[in-house]
Amino acid sequence: MEPFLKWAGGKRWLTTRPIDIFPDHVETKRYFEPFLGGAAVFFHLQPTGGYLSDLNVDLINAYTTIRDNWEDLVDVLFKYDKKHSVDFYYEMREKKPRVSLLQAARFIYLNRTCWNGLYRVNKNGQFNVPIGTKTKVLSTEDNFQELSLLLNTMSIESCDFQNTIDKARSGDFVFIDPPYTVKHNLNGFVKYNEKIFSWQDQIRLKDSVSKAIKRGAFVLILNANHISIKELYKGVGKTIELERASVIAGNSSARGRYTELAIKCW
Ligand SMILES: C[S@@+](CC[C@H](N)C(=O)[O-])C[C@H]1O[C@@H](n2cnc3c(N)ncnc32)[C@H](O)[C@@H]1O
Repeated sequence: MEPFLKWAGGKRWLTTRPIDIFPDHVETKRYFEPFLGGAAVFFHLQPTGGYLSDLNVDLINAYTTIRDNWEDLVDVLFKYDKKHSVDFYYEMREKKPRVSLLQAARFIYLNRTCWNGLYRVNKNGQFNVPIGTKTKVLSTEDNFQELSLLLNTMSIESCDFQNTIDKARSGDFVFIDPPYTVKHNLNGFVKYNEKIFSWQDQIRLKDSVSKAIKRGAFVLILNANHISIKELYKGVGKTIELERASVIAGNSSARGRYTELAIKCW
């Protein structure tokens, strides 16, 4: 199953790799994903039971609405699909619906029609991404009923990662995919992320992960392949460098290969 959102740092690429770096389903009990985003790994593994969470309240509301009220949501999205235009997009962008159903529909509509599926809000928390090139809101591949059934077995909440990781016990699988930040900033992108997820947060994450491992959880962490991350996780699991293609700019000459780090703790 594919994610229903486009999300920065999404791990769809990880699920299409030939090497399977996830633990065996048979061995694991519940599934935990505390940095949910587009949930590429959750939709790939399709586990039953556990906890999904993210700090982003609007994102989590979209998941709980699909789980609890997918039919009404699809009705609203269908209407938005018909109304979609430049004017309608900017009208929706300005709106602040009070009802959670409409908040979720607006969130999914903007995610699917904005520029590059980017989630960005200004200082006042107002979504400020311009319109993209997509003309359809719904596609024939959408199956919200199937998503709802899968989400039905999961506890879903908006909270800091630590609350969720603390709940993991022996035999549970915890997939950790934080925003990437490194200790020594090398470029503007990382500096930008530092506001969202600081180095202090990376240390707090590592401490929380170490405790979960001691309780017997299986933990897989994804992060930047950087010396500071390797040092941080020294002695915690096995590090694997995962090579992937990047499309930094639209033209093929700027495309290259780079690596990310997986830390497998079992
Ligand atoms: C790299 S993305 C996860 C992408 C996801 N694995 C996917 O496949 O789309 C990181 C996520 O962490 C969330 N986040 C940032 N700080 C957080 C925190 N302190 N606690 C929980 N989630 C946080 C962001 O909202 C974002 O959705």
